[in-house]
Amino acid sequence: MIGRLNHVAIAVHDLAAASAVYRDALGVRVSGPFALPGHGVTVAFVELENTKIELIEPLGEHSPIAKFLAENPGGAIHHLCFEVADILAARERLTRGGARVLGDGRPKIGAHGKPVLFLSPKDFAGTLIELEQI
Ligand code: CO
Repeated sequence: MIGRLNHVAIAVHDLAAASAVYRDALGVRVSGPFALPGHGVTVAFVELENTKIELIEPLGEHSPIAKFLAENPGGAIHHLCFEVADILAARERLTRGGARVLGDGRPKIGAHGKPVLFLSPKDFAGTLIELEQI
């Protein structure tokens, strides 16, 4: 049902420093930063040949990644994003199987301007999953 790995997201305290690590030490292109106030994060994208790394930094007082970073003060992998052709059909199939969608369960517009949903890590081997309709 899921398609390609769209990105791996890493939560960081300092987006500029993390971007510099990828750009300067690892020698890859990094785009951004892009502020996403509706998601409570600022993001930058490391663009690799086969996928992307999404670096995410908290934005605002109620950022959904603030608690995660408090528990992982050095930064850590936060979620995996898989592509789907039809996000509503994917949600229907997953929730019928007992998976839990975070928030109000409705797709939001994500960092690429496309609909996204997040699935509880409790249902996916301890990993927060993002689905993005491509
Ligand atoms: Co993401």
